[in-house]
Amino acid sequence: NIDSLVDMFSRTISYLRLSLTDRCNLRCVYCMPEDQKDGLKMLKHEELLSYEELLHIIELVVGMGMNKIRLTGGEPLVRKGVMGFISSLSKISGLDEIRLTTNGVLLHEKATGLYDAGIRKLNISLDTMRPERFKKITGFDLFDQVWKGIKTAGELGFDVKINVVAMKGVNDDEFVDFVRLALETPYQVRFIEFMPVGDDSTWKEASYITSSDLQKRIAVLGTLKALPGRRMDGPARVYSLTTDDGAQGKIGFISPISHHFCDTCNRLRLTSAGRLRACLLHDKEADLKALLRKGATDQELRGLIRRTILDKPKGHTLAEDQVNCSGQMSRIGG
Ligand code: GTP
Ligand code: 5AD
Ligand code: SF4
Repeated sequence: NIDSLVDMFSRTISYLRLSLTDRCNLRCVYCMPEDQKDGLKMLKHEELLSYEELLHIIELVVGMGMNKIRLTGGEPLVRKGVMGFISSLSKISGLDEIRLTTNGVLLHEKATGLYDAGIRKLNISLDTMRPERFKKITGFDLFDQVWKGIKTAGELGFDVKINVVAMKGVNDDEFVDFVRLALETPYQVRFIEFMPVGDDSTWKEASYITSSDLQKRIAVLGTLKALPGRRMDGPARVYSLTTDDGAQGKIGFISPISHHFCDTCNRLRLTSAGRLRACLLHDKEADLKALLRKGATDQELRGLIRRTILDKPKGHTLAEDQVNCSGQMSRIGG
């Protein structure tokens, strides 16, 4: 059946991660390659899929049974017209969840618009709570602005998750502060294992910290208890943390390296260059944009989507050195 979303390993691919742009208003050391940081080698506007083209593709995949979409980037909120696009997405029946991953820089001004457009869940990247360090990691002195954005989002009633990439020698002296944040606010704090992505990545074996190491460090603050997983939650393993004096918070661990979740992976990616990518950590991509712009029929487009799903690798084994991701995070969308 050409419309089936089931891959060769019996996984149902029901979730699309869509990178809306490779552009970003930050320059995080680990994310963007140098020539992109200078603004060279950014995709030109016509190299992105237009909103019209994107809506067409999304209607197709939702017709095939996909029900969840996450907008990423680069920074999705820097793309012009994104609010109108999200409102159009909200009208697609069968699309149950529209979520967004953002660096938070524009949240203080766009949170209300996002809420009105139909988004309820935000994942916000924040690797440090120290303004000086924020500037060092991201290249911009914008911690206060991001913090204001996070607070605004919380007050408006968004479900907020804070993504912290755990990096030895960079932010490992702040894990306890992040846990306190989870205790003091309704935000879920999620620690992410640093992945080797991109050719000139700053990733080194020495900078990577496993989730179990992290859990040991956090355990001094209270008792961690695994919460039952829910399918929609994706790769994070979520725990409640309870301190001696009764404070509670939610902490997530995303462990793509030490506990990879490939066996239950339900994801397909559409990069900002309009290419379908079956796996974050494998470079093979299919040029959906080229096919679309040749005037392909829906049947042909569905055929390429189906073939990409059938070609989805079983997963990655970092231990066996099978990670092969030279593509850039800012184009793929994480
Ligand atoms: P939901 O499951 O939709 O709630 O979100 P998420 O946690 O998958 O999304 P988010 O964009 O916040 O990503 C969090 C981290 O998980 C980032 O570091 C992503 O690169 C990583 N990640 C997300 N999906 C995958 C995946 O399929 N494989 C791997 N290896 N990493 C992933
Ligand atoms: N390893 C793990 N997470 C990463 N992110 C970006 N690069 C990496 C990496 N090499 C995270 C961002 C963002 C999410 C989409 O991916 O911090 O929260
Ligand atoms: Fe899915 Fe590939 Fe990530 Fe494994 S590494 S969870 S197969 S995208």
